[in-house]
Amino acid sequence: MKTKKEKEAYLALQNQMALLGGGKNRIAAQHAKGKLTARERIHLLLDQGSFQEIDKLVTHRSKDFDLDQQIILGDGVITGFGKVVGRLVFVFSQDFTVFGGSLSETHAEKIVKIIDMAMKNGAPIIGLNDSGGARIQEGVVSLGGYADIFYRNTRASGVVPQLSAVMGPCAGGAVYSPALTDFVFMVDQTSYMFVTGPNVVKTVTQEEVSSEALGGAHTHASKSGVTHFTSHNDAACIMDIKRVLSYIPSNCEDQPPMVSYEPLSDNEWRPLLDNILPDNPSQPYEMREVIMGIIDEESWQEVQPEFAENILIGFSRIAGRSIGIVANQPMSFAGVLDINASKKAARFVRFCDAFNIPLLVLVDVPGFLPGTDQEWNGIISNGAKLLYAFSEATVPRVTVITRKAYGGAYDVMNSKHIGADLNFAWPMAEIAVMGAKGASEIIFKKEIREAKNPQEKHQEKVDEYIDKFANPYHAAARGYVDEVIFPRETRDRLIKAYEVLENKVDSLPRKKHGNIPL
Ligand code: HXC
Repeated sequence: MKTKKEKEAYLALQNQMALLGGGKNRIAAQHAKGKLTARERIHLLLDQGSFQEIDKLVTHRSKDFDLDQQIILGDGVITGFGKVVGRLVFVFSQDFTVFGGSLSETHAEKIVKIIDMAMKNGAPIIGLNDSGGARIQEGVVSLGGYADIFYRNTRASGVVPQLSAVMGPCAGGAVYSPALTDFVFMVDQTSYMFVTGPNVVKTVTQEEVSSEALGGAHTHASKSGVTHFTSHNDAACIMDIKRVLSYIPSNCEDQPPMVSYEPLSDNEWRPLLDNILPDNPSQPYEMREVIMGIIDEESWQEVQPEFAENILIGFSRIAGRSIGIVANQPMSFAGVLDINASKKAARFVRFCDAFNIPLLVLVDVPGFLPGTDQEWNGIISNGAKLLYAFSEATVPRVTVITRKAYGGAYDVMNSKHIGADLNFAWPMAEIAVMGAKGASEIIFKKEIREAKNPQEKHQEKVDEYIDKFANPYHAAARGYVDEVIFPRETRDRLIKAYEVLENKVDSLPRKKHGNIPL
């Protein structure tokens, strides 16, 4: 029989072996690729000394392909809980040094346990993914393991925030769990996401494509929109995760964290809102400057900056309070709404609504993008996503129309009619069914055609239309806009608005769930 001392020595040895993962050589190979190990990533993420690991001694159960000769404690994923700036989070970190971070039955069980615990305890789930997908030697058992995770990701959606970092090659099943979560973070040049890799692509479609072009961070940031944040290395990625966490509550019953705010200290750096809009209403301007003129210093955290650049989304703070901002961007396609912009904004609105983050919507939109490409690819059902997302949102919702709000896009962009709480407009706002040129061509068609000088007549009618309709006063007269304000008053108005709406109570009709046009 072993002595007490021998038993303790055995445990110490087991712990030591678990810490080594796939061994020194594979750790060195991981570092050589510019990547951190699974444990180093957790160390950076969590407050010092707060990590409580669980299932450190779990091993796989497979006996096929000599796998019983290769038992590595922890089985390729490190799981547990800890604190990020004092707040509880649950975390799993896949260890690429162990069978390429591939997912076995027991690896999946560890992740499932973490998700279940996070849901019961109302804390965010952070997944650090670095995996070659299903553990090939385990066959269908590992597919089952993936499905167990997907099922929980879906059940946890809207209950606790789920953040996924992709920090290595994620192939096959490894991409769907991140895709089901709220935000995906990728590391430039060292992470890939694809359902089928370049070799399979070549066999099936004869296309030759590199991993980077097929599913690298830049591809998913700008082309597919799968990823929300791109970082230049692992450490920066972890910092991005921590920053995003600072805006969001721990669960759907919780309120976002408040940050202390000093009202007088932050005015000098702020762009003057009165000076941003050009005199010519057809000239673009940078909507980010408007955002900077409104928000607390250094509080802008843009989401998906490279995708659908005609709309901006991001987290921010106003007088210390977290808000989610959705803003048309006149610098890109005049801020028009198209399929990608609608999808991008709709998902963000739904996240903010699920987690009690008030919304601010800045409107300068000439309408929806016309054309066969948009119509054939479903601008109708995709535009409807944004309409649906705003209409069902019950969080405080405030709108500022800075300039154009035309046509259906006026309705969609958080109008009063679809449940916005307070709507402001700047004096340069143009709120109308359509732009002056198109409108006058239709309603004054006969007059223009019969005029001695049709061109002159058209211009006269355009000017008449602009004077009559391209302003905020018809909307204000009907209460569709609560107040027309000077741009310089915007920040103060918004601070008060979110204070007033702090205890807003609103709910949806009883239902199983709605049917958003997916
Ligand atoms: C078991 C795996 C593995 C896997 C990698 N390894 N992927 N072991 N199952 N899926 C092991 C390798 O054998 C190797 O072991 C170690 O991990 C590192 O792999 P390398 O190939 O040497 O590394 P690298 O060159 O960096 O390439 C990484 C990779 C590549 C791009 C991920 O390994 C790869 O293509 N793997 C297969 C990816 C894939 O097709 N997965 C899909 C599975 S199907 P040693 O002992 O040498 O260190 C799937 C379907 C689920 O996921 C669907 C659910 C919806």
